[in-house]
Amino acid sequence: MKENIVMSGMRPTGMLHLGHWEGALKNWVALQEKYKSYFSIVDWHALTTDYQNPENIDSYIQETLIDWLSVGIDPEKSVIFVQSSIKEIAELYLLFSMIVPLGWLERVPTFKEQQLQLKDRDINNLGFLGYPLLQTMDIIIVRGNMVPVGEDQVFHLELAREIVRRFNNLYGEYFSEPKEFLTPVPKLLGTDGRKMSKSYDNSIFLSDSAESVEAKIRPMKTDTRRQRRTDPGVAEDCPVYSIHKSFSSENEKESIVKDCASASIGCIDCKKILIKNLNNFLEPVRERREKYKNTDTKEILDNGAKKARAIASETLENVRELMKV
Ligand code: TRP
Ligand code: SF4
Repeated sequence: MKENIVMSGMRPTGMLHLGHWEGALKNWVALQEKYKSYFSIVDWHALTTDYQNPENIDSYIQETLIDWLSVGIDPEKSVIFVQSSIKEIAELYLLFSMIVPLGWLERVPTFKEQQLQLKDRDINNLGFLGYPLLQTMDIIIVRGNMVPVGEDQVFHLELAREIVRRFNNLYGEYFSEPKEFLTPVPKLLGTDGRKMSKSYDNSIFLSDSAESVEAKIRPMKTDTRRQRRTDPGVAEDCPVYSIHKSFSSENEKESIVKDCASASIGCIDCKKILIKNLNNFLEPVRERREKYKNTDTKEILDNGAKKARAIASETLENVRELMKV
């Protein structure tokens, strides 16, 4: 049986929020206990869309790293590194570019969607077209086969498997097919009831203070049925409850559903419970953040790069041999 190896990555695009925790980081923290794990800050991927404004990428790398460490990604247990420090990825990408049909990349839904969405910039580039191929290289260069990501990445993983299959068919069964590892919880909603996203200005950040958590939850809209304190509501239709789902205990959730329906709890008290639970969750995160502020983050990344490079260069050697170059 093949060993399970965990690999995942995030683009350095700024502060991480509770949606990142629920959608991915929570899994990463759990998986690092059981499996060899590689976590990459994928700065080349950030460049595929932000090549015109690269000046923030360096500071975002730092922020991303500190956010990861503060939620408990542990450099003693996981290999944490910056993508661009492993140049082997670029060579592997070049070699694979020989065998990946253009059509496979052109039909990736995000390719057209993002071009329509990011109207302010031109991303009709080879680099952006190759985004999913680069992601595949991230994974297989460290022989990753278990990829904890959000649902939006499923298509990329399907494509990764196709690419791996094509390689194996051409040159021999070398890579194992990577598989996505999803969280069972649905998307976390933001303070406005839409999906939590930095671009919607509805996020609770991993680095938010207790006061700012309170200031964000207090004014939240609740179920529209609860116009007056005495009007009963339906928790399932309430954005406040949607966050309770991820951060409150089973008991609390049960009582809230009941007490909301009978109007025996007011929305202010319901929000207070949520604020308390969010801050209970974030308190140890804040403590770790303080601790890591005084440690040498460069050393953490250098160490990670060294370990990642060791396996990456071995993979690349083998691929060169198989491809006769
Ligand atoms: N495309 C991923 C995202 O936007 C980021 C990513 C790049 C990634 N390389 C990866 C995720 C490798 C998992 C494995 O979230
Ligand atoms: Fe939402 Fe809680 Fe108010 Fe019910 S009591 S509407 S769940 S905030």
